Amino acid sequence: MNIKKIFKTAQAKHLPIFQFNFSDLSQLKGIINGAKKFKKPFILGTSEGESNFLGLNFAVAIKKEVEKELGFPVILNLDHGKSFDHLKKAIDAGYEMVHFDGSSLPIRENIKITKKVASYAKKRGVLVEGELGFLRGTSEIHREMAKIKVKDMTLPREAQLFVKETGVDALAPVFGNIHGIYKKMPSLDLKRLSMIKSRVGKWVFLVLHGGSGIPSSQIKGAVKKGIVKINLNTEIRLAWRKVLEKSLKDNPQEVAPYKLAPQVIKAIEKVIVKKMKLFYKI
Ligand code: G3H
Ligand code: ZN
Repeated sequence: MNIKKIFKTAQAKHLPIFQFNFSDLSQLKGIINGAKKFKKPFILGTSEGESNFLGLNFAVAIKKEVEKELGFPVILNLDHGKSFDHLKKAIDAGYEMVHFDGSSLPIRENIKITKKVASYAKKRGVLVEGELGFLRGTSEIHREMAKIKVKDMTLPREAQLFVKETGVDALAPVFGNIHGIYKKMPSLDLKRLSMIKSRVGKWVFLVLHGGSGIPSSQIKGAVKKGIVKINLNTEIRLAWRKVLEKSLKDNPQEVAPYKLAPQVIKAIEKVIVKKMKLFYKI
């Protein structure tokens, strides 16, 4: 599978590739049931924590089975890897894309490790995503208002330097996006996104992290300005938790997981369909 080609096509058509994170079989089944209606390539994402829980080899085996079942490309990405070692293990296990998250590091240190990841990955035909700017939050519900400081956001000229020095294929910028769902979501700074886009050049694929809780109009606006990949986690996790709780409550005697799971799977399928429908027809 030529992943770069899939990304290039998505970029040319302004049709983003979705990344859906998972760490549980009901989540995975919900994602599959939703995505298969569209027959478009998508990404299965596992963060470091999610990948440690699943096991890297197990995640690779799952993705192969999913792809076989669906009959169209499914890409496996190690999301928010925090060290070269973990990403190297993921690449060796068979991940096709890796994301090094050096956003909490000084830019020089971030560049140094991202470059090391990129050089290891590229020799093996693996796509690399880098991250620049301070992307706040965690993939969960937050009771407070989202606060993003201007100094957290990606500077267009630094983005240019970052991609030139690291050789990444994709870049996750910070332009008003945040992980998780907040009492009040911030607005995306699409002007900044456009400036970043013009600095990084045509063939660097821009990624929207923190896809949950962003109004559809803003997601569409971001794709128009150059976003090629959209990451979604919190909305999937939330549907899992809410419906699992209800299912347990409604069936207090039930102990067979597969009898409690169908409602959870359905709810996650709905989340996936709602997102993909913004860009694709069933
Ligand atoms: O890398 C994963 C995504 O950025 C998830 O963000 O939890 O806000 O959907 P989210
Ligand atoms: Zn993220």
